[in-house]
Amino acid sequence: MKEPSSEGPPMSSTDPRIDLARPLSFAYWVPNVSGGLVVSTIEQRTSWDFDYNKKLARIAEDAGFEYALSQTRYAASYGADKQHEATSFSLALLAATEKLKVIAAVHPGMWHPGVLAKYIITADHISGGRAAVNIVSGWLRAEFDGFGLPWLEHDERYVRTEEFISILRGLWTEQDFSFHGKYYDISDFTLSPAPVSVPGRAHPDIFFGGNSTAARIAAGHVADWYFSNGKDFEGFTEQFNDVHASAAAIGRTAPRFGLNGFVIARDSEKEARDTLREIVEKAHRPAVEGFRGAVQEAGPATKDGKGMWADSSFEDLIQYNDGFRTQLIGTPEQIAERIVAYKQRGVNLLLTCYLHFQEEVAAFGRDILPIVRELEADLARKHGVELGDPELAATSTGGH
Ligand SMILES: Cc1cc2nc3c(=O)[nH]c(=O)nc-3n(C[C@H](O)[C@H](O)[C@H](O)COP(=O)(O)O)c2cc1C
Repeated sequence: MKEPSSEGPPMSSTDPRIDLARPLSFAYWVPNVSGGLVVSTIEQRTSWDFDYNKKLARIAEDAGFEYALSQTRYAASYGADKQHEATSFSLALLAATEKLKVIAAVHPGMWHPGVLAKYIITADHISGGRAAVNIVSGWLRAEFDGFGLPWLEHDERYVRTEEFISILRGLWTEQDFSFHGKYYDISDFTLSPAPVSVPGRAHPDIFFGGNSTAARIAAGHVADWYFSNGKDFEGFTEQFNDVHASAAAIGRTAPRFGLNGFVIARDSEKEARDTLREIVEKAHRPAVEGFRGAVQEAGPATKDGKGMWADSSFEDLIQYNDGFRTQLIGTPEQIAERIVAYKQRGVNLLLTCYLHFQEEVAAFGRDILPIVRELEADLARKHGVELGDPELAATSTGGH
């Protein structure tokens, strides 16, 4: 866990891969899991139950959040002893909100792509075009072993994921769709109805969670959005360049980039850092160590040692998506400045988590977002472009 620094310069302002005119998007992790988003005994006024989450979703959309992400895990574990299923929970949140897009995390090894494509079309109709998915290739082998499902070795999981996403997109956009791959065989299939037609959106957004070399290559080939675990500037830039190179190699537009970060906004930087210190001091050690053991199937299992959790310290793993590394810790002004510095490096979306979700999501919208928008507008102007309307950005998803 590093102190903030100015690691790595921003990309050149003329880099065509960086879109300064488009407002940043914001998302929050749905706490559909007990124990909050840090594995620590520090007080967390966050609940995993539906009533809490319904209220949170409404607070978030009023606060200016565009997306919510429901995580998927079948065996509640590592500091969490209860977990709601992601697709059904997401659908219920969509039904309870008006603007928020809700992303459900899904494992290819647990779902058939045709079944998921159909499910999401129905969710899309119920919600007026707000359903989305995060395709995650998995790390928790015990779930697959326990369910009697095959566990593929690391890079092979991404071969299957690439096929899975190609099929989702095909079934959402084509009639009589066929795909004959290594893992799936689809013949002349048409799903009717198709997803809702939303201006600027070809089909429900396809997010992608995975950070290894194999993941970066697959995401460049098929994803609409690439999610990075928490990273400093340098770590983010490395992924940004690799995913862009993978897309360019097949002549495709690169996905857009989301970055995870744990937000601790307080009146003073000292207060924020004290809170982080308390989270770490009160870490649930056995749960964090157990998690460290299980994630050896992810980044650490790769030949080049790149990928999620490959170089995470004990402190990093307390926020199990390395969220402290992004360093969104300090006063609202400091956090807003850091967020915009990430935008200059190619981040399009901040995926955020908190100790006390309802209060802090509202505070983020009130105290941080207006500063971000001002800084974004200044930055755009400095580079001779006009910042788009954040409200409009929230109604269109970018036309991949
Ligand atoms: C933003 C984000 C969200 C994720 N959500 C989940 C999830 O809900 N369930 C899950 O099993 N894995 C999730 N993952 C982990 C991926 O499934 C994958 O195991 C992990 O990225 C390690 O892959 P790698 O070795 O390719 O880096 C997520 C990853 C990211 C970046």
